Amino acid sequence: MYINFNPNDIIHTDEIISELKVYLTENETKQIFIITDKNCLKLCYPLIKSIFPETQSVFSIETGEVYKTLETVTKIWDFLFEKRADRNSLIINIGGGIVSDIGGFSASTFKRGISFINIPTTLLAQVDASVGGKTGINYNGLKNQIGTLIMPDKVFISTEFLETLNSDEILSGFGEMIKHALIYNEKHFYELINYIKNEFSEKKIINLAPLINKSVNIKIHFVKNDVTENGMRMILNFGHTFGHAFESYFFSKNKSVKHGIAVIYGIICELWLSVKYLNFDKGKFTKITGELLDIYPRLVIPENEFNLIFGYMQYDKKNKNNTIQSVLLKDVEFPVIQRIIEENDVYESLRILNSLSKRK
Ligand SMILES: NC(=O)c1ccc[n+]([C@@H]2O[C@H](COP(=O)([O-])OP(=O)(O)OC[C@H]3O[C@@H](n4cnc5c(N)ncnc54)[C@H](O)[C@@H]3O)[C@@H](O)[C@H]2O)c1
Repeated sequence: MYINFNPNDIIHTDEIISELKVYLTENETKQIFIITDKNCLKLCYPLIKSIFPETQSVFSIETGEVYKTLETVTKIWDFLFEKRADRNSLIINIGGGIVSDIGGFSASTFKRGISFINIPTTLLAQVDASVGGKTGINYNGLKNQIGTLIMPDKVFISTEFLETLNSDEILSGFGEMIKHALIYNEKHFYELINYIKNEFSEKKIINLAPLINKSVNIKIHFVKNDVTENGMRMILNFGHTFGHAFESYFFSKNKSVKHGIAVIYGIICELWLSVKYLNFDKGKFTKITGELLDIYPRLVIPENEFNLIFGYMQYDKKNKNNTIQSVLLKDVEFPVIQRIIEENDVYESLRILNSLSKRK
């Protein structure tokens, strides 16, 4: 376990079994514990089960954000104590972002930290959550308020797992990929839009590996020299100041919006503020938001609830001295960190999102 980021620890493969076998042989002295969730236990673990002994210790958590809590972490710790895990043990997280966040957090705190690897099984976890070392849980109804920053020993990324994902999960993953493209590679943005409109609409998960690879490389670019997020890594928060507030808003209503889909609505709001403050081209704004709302469901927030969104933004982890920070774009590929967002900016952006969503 360590905090330095080594991009070579991220392994893209279409033969997960053989890659894992090699890794496990190199780590054969380690006692292994698998953390997964109820869905992945049925749909993902069977794809690699054959390389583990029949008696393999597996702990599966309930699915959903409401279980990304300290209570679930204590259940994982109890399981590890009961099975006599020690500091030489290895945790393998198999699942989406919730499993990698909570499994990584449990591993990084158990006996002051034991090794873990991630096998991400959602598109979102493959391009984002499993990479970069952030772990965490929700606290007091707010997202990811408690956590650690520690690198997994390895991340194995394979599209083999993605066939069983529903379209909402795929669109959520694309949300983060679109964010990566907008902050770093405009051509890649249109590549993604074309893929979603043409190939994904036919429900095919083919040819996705090169796009995942590109997206992960963009994340690596922003993380590798700024693991602790003092500068460049903050750019990855584009779309997230509003995005996290949308998630908390839906969470409080016992409804849920997928993380990457909330980020898309966040991108629309933050692009509007980019037009307002940084002269982001209005035509480009219309084109990009049009493409996004062609693909993603429309979202209308009632005007009398705008204050709730603003309220959640005041708890954002990126805030400094009680002011709300965000990432805006001068242009696609030209992000700027730390514009201060005022209450009226939030309301104006939400009005724009509403009016775009109401358009035919
Ligand atoms: N640590 C980070 O850097 C980081 C970055 C982005 C998001 N996140 C976190 O990630 C979480 C969201 O991750 P997510 O979108 O992967 O959600 P998730 O982990 O809840 O997975 C989504 C759903 O898909 C199911 N699933 C997983 N793999 C499957 C498969 N192959 N086939 C069928 N079903 C499958 C899961 O059981 C779950 O029901 C959020 O909690 C978010 O805060 C963390």
